[in-house]
This record gives sequence, structure tokens and C-alpha cells, in this order.
Amino acid sequence: MIERSAHTQTKESGNTTDSRTNTGRTSFNRCTNIVAVGSGKGGVGKTWFSITLANALSRMGKRVLLFDGDLGLANVDVQLGLMPKRDLNDVIRGRMGLDKVIQRYEEGNFDIIAGRSGQASLSALPSQRLALLRDQLMDVASEYDVVIADLGAGVDRTVRMLSATASSTLLITTDEPTSLTDAYAFIKLGNAAGMSNNVSIIVNMASSILEAEKTYKTLLKACENFLRLSPPLIGMIRVDKKVKETIRSQTPILIRSPSADAALDVEKIAKMVWRNVQNSGRRTAQK
Ligand SMILES: Nc1ncnc2c1ncn2[C@@H]1O[C@H](COP(=O)(O)OP(=O)(O)OP(=O)(O)O)[C@@H](O)[C@H]1O
Ligand SMILES: [Mg+2]
Repeated sequence: MIERSAHTQTKESGNTTDSRTNTGRTSFNRCTNIVAVGSGKGGVGKTWFSITLANALSRMGKRVLLFDGDLGLANVDVQLGLMPKRDLNDVIRGRMGLDKVIQRYEEGNFDIIAGRSGQASLSALPSQRLALLRDQLMDVASEYDVVIADLGAGVDRTVRMLSATASSTLLITTDEPTSLTDAYAFIKLGNAAGMSNNVSIIVNMASSILEAEKTYKTLLKACENFLRLSPPLIGMIRVDKKVKETIRSQTPILIRSPSADAALDVEKIAKMVWRNVQNSGRRTAQK
């Protein structure tokens, strides 16, 4: 069922895998400390998770940058109640370098690069501009232990480029059939564009560990049967009413409700993410 629906989507997405300029197949090195957060379907918790992951890593003593890579529909700043004076729009327009739009989020003890919502020119950047942005991001990343890039939903050009730049992509799904089908389509299209080797799965809004495992196994089976890929499960996050509450209060869950189920689940994932970043750094150093 997953494969059949995803096949339709692959066709419908038209030239997503064909328009491979320098933002398609990975012809450049991945940046070992950039972690991308993506999803097939929208609204599965990417932005909330990215903020919470950044916060969890900073609480582990890491220097963290959160990059709002959902270029035309940014909302990291909204979830945190920030009013950035500078954002990616200034970078894209050539008014300043990426390093100049970094702002400190004191409460969470991490840095942020904010996007700009509703800016059509940002969501449809020409490949060259996108490549420039990628290069600047890789430069900036060297100042941090970890960079988290919150992506837009789907597998458009920007997502493919940022995901291919990252050492790994955390793909979020829920147990909803549409979310699972779209997660499978993300892996399938991403694989065709040469970016899916380092995808791991997070099941969000799970009603229990058992249910999360069931959801993951359904996705894994489809990937193994049709794509010969076995993306690992990096963790699961329980559905938790505190998530909505903390988003409404524009305060990270690890600050407002640190012992909430969902907060504890992300802390567990953060440890795995950090281990993977370290391993990825070591592997690159050995080459
Ligand atoms: N573990 C959870 N428990 C309960 N609700 C959750 C959980 N995770 C996310 N949500 C809910 O999902 C909503 C969407 O979250 P978020 O905006 O982070 O998704 P997104 O994937 O970034 O969306 P988009 O694709 O539009 O960028 C949140 O408003 C929140 O209420
Ligand atoms: Mg989002």
C-alpha cells in the first residue's frame, strides 16, 4: 500500500529528481556536524522537535546552532516568540553574510538563524543562490559542535540540498497512513537524488512504545522490500499534551516542562544524535 501511493507521488512530483544541478546528487562533502530534520508530510512536529533537540544538546554542554531551513515558511522564531532583527532574507538579498544573522537565544543557551515566513523569493531560490547559502552554512558550522537544520516538508530542491549537506537526516513520521506513505516517498525520492544513505527514522506522537515500533516496522518493511534500504530507528516521541501547551507559551518544553514524556524522549534522542555526530567526525578524520 505504501509503495503504491508513493509511486503515484513520485510521478506527480515531476522533475524533482531530474533537475539535478549542483543541488541534486552529492558532488560535495557532507558536513559532519550538520543534522537535518525532515518529513514527507507537513505538520508532524519537525520545528518543535528541532527546537527541543537544540535545547537538549545545549543542556548537554554542546555549542548548538539551530538553522531555520524551511525557507519560505519559517517558524522557529514563532514557536520561540522571537522577533529577529535580521534573518535569511538579508543573506539571500546579499545585504550580509550568514554569520551576521546569527542571534543568541539566551533562554535556551543556543544560537539561531531565523528564516522569513511568506517570502516567495526564499522558497524558490535559484540553484546558485542555494549553493552559496550551503557554502556559508558549512563555514558557520565549523564554529559549533552541532548544527540542526529544520527543513520544510517534502523533498523539494532546498530540502534535497540541505539534506545532502548534512551528515544525517532525521526523518519524522507519525503513525498516520499519509505520514508513513510520505515518509516512504521521501526516502525513495531522496535515494534517487543520492541523499538517503544517512536517513534515520523518528516516530513522533506515538501512543506507546509498542505502537511506535509497529509504525517503524511498517515503514522499514516497505523500504526493505522495494528500495533495498533499511533506515534505522533513532527514537520515538510520545504524544504529549504538554507539547501544545509549551508551543502556545512560546517556551521550549525542556525549560517549561522538563519532565514531560515528550521532553524525556527527545533527550534520549539527543544522546544518540551526539554519538552519531562524533562517529561521523571520526570516520571523516580517518579517510
Ligand atoms: N509529541 C507530540 N505530542 C503532541 N503534539 C505534538 C507532538 N509533536 C508535535 N505536536 C503538535 O504538532 C504540531 C505541529 O508541529 P510543528 O509545527 O513542529 O510541525 P512541522 O512538521 O514543523 O510542520 P510544518 O511541516 O508545517 O513545518 C504542533 O503544533 C504540536 O501541537
Ligand atoms: Mg515546521
